[in-house]
Amino acid sequence: MEYRKLGDLEVSVIGYGAWGIGGAPFWNTEGDKKSITSIKKSFDLGINFFDTAPVYGFGHSEELIGKALKPVRDKVILATKCGLRWGKESLSSLRKDASRKSILEEIDQSLNRLGTDWIDLYQVHWPDVETSQQETMETLLELQEQGKIRHIGVSNYSAAQIKESLQYAKLISLQPEYSLLAREIEKETVPLCVENGMGIVAYSPLSSGVLTGKYDKDTKFKDWRSKGIIGTFTGEGFVENISKVDQLKEIAVQEDKTCGQTAINWVLRQPGLATALVGVKNAGQMEENIKAIGWQPSNENCEKIDKLFAPAG
Ligand SMILES: NC(=O)c1ccc[n+]([C@@H]2O[C@H](COP(=O)([O-])OP(=O)(O)OC[C@H]3O[C@@H](n4cnc5c(N)ncnc54)[C@H](OP(=O)(O)O)[C@@H]3O)[C@@H](O)[C@H]2O)c1
Repeated sequence: MEYRKLGDLEVSVIGYGAWGIGGAPFWNTEGDKKSITSIKKSFDLGINFFDTAPVYGFGHSEELIGKALKPVRDKVILATKCGLRWGKESLSSLRKDASRKSILEEIDQSLNRLGTDWIDLYQVHWPDVETSQQETMETLLELQEQGKIRHIGVSNYSAAQIKESLQYAKLISLQPEYSLLAREIEKETVPLCVENGMGIVAYSPLSSGVLTGKYDKDTKFKDWRSKGIIGTFTGEGFVENISKVDQLKEIAVQEDKTCGQTAINWVLRQPGLATALVGVKNAGQMEENIKAIGWQPSNENCEKIDKLFAPAG
């Protein structure tokens, strides 16, 4: 395993993304037993960075992470989030709330579900434009002083929102969507993060499964991917993406790698990248995914990949 600096933490370049194992209403899982085995296996493979959130399975993901990693708590870096609340355990009830009141409620619930006294990285899940960044950041600083959280990060923040937050608190990370199919952060946000010593914690490096190459243009998703929250999983945009992924598959064959390994490998080679959060449903998927580390395609194939997935404009 390869490790990189994230603030003063040393994180594995592949992190365990625990959204999928939370299950409904977002994903289907292979059952808690396989989810727990995948967490333990990932730790055995050298992964020390585990990312979850209260909203993943409405608490279930945090509970599984806490349970599986309890015996090795002091050897792992636990990252979770705040600021995304729910009402009736349905997608339609989700709302952003990064107010002081909400965060103070959320932190104790997360600590309880994770079965720990501290969270290593506490991230604001989505920007809440109704609450001032000052209020959110000052609340997080309070939690830091109390020892409930070690470091502060943000997720899905624009460059302007990062700049504003930095006036109030030190941030060690940004967690954005980042993959061959989602490169919006490259122009403005990545340079800003690098300049301010913030590491990129890339989410959905496989574009939630699309870059594994296992889907085709006629795939109809039955989970959250049919609902247009993030990413492109329907319509013309999806067909275009699948056509690019088909070409990536051919390049991967030349490198004797899978399409998914080639896609993750690309993310790992990008500036500012600290870790790529890969979502897995079973141990076998993680065993396959970590083979994205420690090699790089030929120069010719690197150029082909960049050209194929170059952002428009
Ligand atoms: N901050 C945010 O707003 C945010 C948003 C999204 C994600 N995230 C974080 O990023 C993590 C990863 O995101 P993600 O789950 O969207 O992304 P991903 O890593 O892009 O895709 C994961 C999915 O791909 C499939 N997969 C993975 N490895 C595979 C393999 N070797 N062979 C075949 N299929 C494989 C699995 O789906 P199936 O087995 O079901 O096919 C898995 O659920 C999340 O768990 C979460 O921690 C954060």
